[in-house]
Amino acid sequence: MSKLPEIAISIFSIMSKMALDYDAINLSQGFPNFPSDPKLISLVNKAMIEGNNQYAPMAGAISLRETIAHKVKKLYNKAYNPSNEITITAGATQAIFTAIAATISKGDEVIIFTPAYDCYAPTIELFGGIVRYIQLQSPTYQPDWDKVRDKISRNTKMIIVNSPHNPSGMLFSENDMLQLQQISEEKNLFVISDEVYEHIIFDGNNHQSAAKFEALSKRTFIIASFGKTFHNTGWKLGYCLAPQNLMKEFQKVHQYNVFCVNHPMQLALSEYLKTPSHYLDLPGFYQQKRDYFIAKLKLSRFKIIPSQGTYFQLLDYSNISEESDIIFAENLTKEYGVATIPTSVFNANKEDFKQIRVCFAKTEVTLNEAAAILNRI
Ligand SMILES: Cc1ncc(COP(=O)(O)O)c(C=O)c1O
Repeated sequence: MSKLPEIAISIFSIMSKMALDYDAINLSQGFPNFPSDPKLISLVNKAMIEGNNQYAPMAGAISLRETIAHKVKKLYNKAYNPSNEITITAGATQAIFTAIAATISKGDEVIIFTPAYDCYAPTIELFGGIVRYIQLQSPTYQPDWDKVRDKISRNTKMIIVNSPHNPSGMLFSENDMLQLQQISEEKNLFVISDEVYEHIIFDGNNHQSAAKFEALSKRTFIIASFGKTFHNTGWKLGYCLAPQNLMKEFQKVHQYNVFCVNHPMQLALSEYLKTPSHYLDLPGFYQQKRDYFIAKLKLSRFKIIPSQGTYFQLLDYSNISEESDIIFAENLTKEYGVATIPTSVFNANKEDFKQIRVCFAKTEVTLNEAAAILNRI
């Protein structure tokens, strides 16, 4: 008996393996192919040499929680208490899992927008919850709040949002957040706000964190990931912010799930995070990569769907082929040597917009090589 009979191996594992098998350039899974800052790495080393190699406190190293509280107050003008409103987690994935485990029971309904990051739905189902999908429409991928209102029933317990949005690169506006605040208050919903790309936003736009909206923040688990911000997805470190009453429930699950996470890395991050340029320089850094890659693809037959944030870019191939996006992505890997992600796998009914997702968190050499191939198609 399987608790998740429909769940197979994730598309990220499939495409990354295929990239290896066919020696293809891997633009599929979302991770940088350039190194994390050596300063940060030596801070981890220092913490280890100084003997910080045993369990961290359950909620995380207090120095890191304090630095996060300071950063969030400065950026979003919202005070989270480091002693009981912040928990350091094994990446955003564990934080999302824990927030769902702490709140969702059998029969509870959870609204998610698709295309959606792939861990939300199986986690909800694992705890007996029912997923109510709302499909965002290409090419804008903007949320329709009337549709959200229509989906809410007596059993709706939570809504999960993700801005900047993976895979579309769409951003929630201030008005979107106000709508979310109004609906979640009116219907008494919990919210998970997956903000792992909070520092990767382009064209001078600002991140609309749930922390900025007082009433919304009172019912929201905000999820962040250091891996996305500091080019070290393999460290799997992130955190959750929530008001004390929600964090209390979150920590009841967290302490029996992992208890605590990597201690020396937490200490290193707490030092590193004290220099704001380490995250404030990120929009410029990634915008340059986005623009570089787009410029290289200018003469290709792909249509480029504008990315406003994240390190992903959608490419529409409807001028090139009528194949399904899965077949198209497979052929692109096998025959041309570029691995990407077909976006239908993120959609509720596997709706196929003939789009693939590429990750541009890559060196210029890799982006050049990939663009040269994509331009030939
Ligand atoms: C939207 C979104 N949420 C969560 C995660 C998971 O982050 P982590 O690697 O910190 O678990 C990712 C990673 O790709 C993501 O894109």
